[in-house]
Amino acid sequence: MSVDHDNDVLLLVCASGKQCSSLLPLLQGKWRHLRLHVNSQASEERLKTRYPEAEVVRASLDNVDHVRRIMCGVATVFHVGPSFHPREKEMGCFMVDAAVEEAKRGTFKHFIYSSVLSPQLRKLMNHDCKNHVEEHLMESGLNFTILQPSTFLDNFPIKYLAQQEKPVFPALWDTNVSFSYTALDDLAEAVSKVIEEREKHYMAQYAACSTMPMPNSALVAMAAKVLGKDVEVSRIPFQESVDMLCKRLYATTEVDARTRDEPERMILFYNRRGLLGNPGVLEWILGRKATAPEEWMRRQVGG
Ligand SMILES: NC(=O)c1ccc[n+]([C@@H]2O[C@H](COP(=O)([O-])OP(=O)(O)OC[C@H]3O[C@@H](n4cnc5c(N)ncnc54)[C@H](OP(=O)(O)O)[C@@H]3O)[C@@H](O)[C@H]2O)c1
Repeated sequence: MSVDHDNDVLLLVCASGKQCSSLLPLLQGKWRHLRLHVNSQASEERLKTRYPEAEVVRASLDNVDHVRRIMCGVATVFHVGPSFHPREKEMGCFMVDAAVEEAKRGTFKHFIYSSVLSPQLRKLMNHDCKNHVEEHLMESGLNFTILQPSTFLDNFPIKYLAQQEKPVFPALWDTNVSFSYTALDDLAEAVSKVIEEREKHYMAQYAACSTMPMPNSALVAMAAKVLGKDVEVSRIPFQESVDMLCKRLYATTEVDARTRDEPERMILFYNRRGLLGNPGVLEWILGRKATAPEEWMRRQVGG
């Protein structure tokens, strides 16, 4: 059952976000029926201008009727949950339920879920909710593929550091804790393969890391080498770090308590433990070596 680029509807959820922004250029021009889900009017306008051939649909994913509407007639969905949303679990489960309804009508083929590395880590609220969505998906009877990216390498502020005469890296957590990182371009290429190769990836769960574990301090040292200048580390106090993450994610620190809980718990966890994975699976999907952080940094600053 290979993909039918002329008749299948491909739906990307959170199409304005970081993951889909890297994925969309790889899909453009291939799919006649590309449906892009957004939440805000600003993203709707931006994507309509950028991708005039696509159908851009606005929907609140915590509204079952909205979810059914965007899922109507879909063959493949790439589902990404909104960052740190207190109802991310319900949204994912609604998406799975709507896909099951479509499958009964015969059009639905493949549910691709962008989860997170080690969703079993329950102390991380943004992991725990994905664990529930994974369970719901596995029990749904749908053909699924789960990709589990780690913290994005692209979060590292190399361009910001490059602009500074005396660069200072704002450390929101202990820089000696190790993480495996995922380069967004590697993830996008893997997702596009999974979409195109369909059955080859049915019932698969893939850890999607680009690197072995390494501390943030190693990235800072690499940045100093790439930029050819010292990079100082400034450790930000806990509540200030939470505020900075809230600002980055929601453009404000005025968020309700449940929304603040998620970045707060993440920083507490990251201060002691990181996310540990291995690039082997991602490299197998890509058929090449994953992006090395130094190579990524040089590309970002044109070095
Ligand atoms: N950041 C990381 O390092 C990392 C690593 C692994 C996994 N993840 C996971 O990746 C996911 C986020 O993906 P991303 O980074 O591509 O997105 P993102 O850049 O954080 O963008 C957030 C997206 O969520 C949408 N959104 C916000 N509120 C919504 C709502 N109420 N209903 C529906 N959509 C809503 C936004 O749409 P509008 O633009 O229209 O508002 C936007 O597309 C999260 O689940 C996160 O846990 C992140």
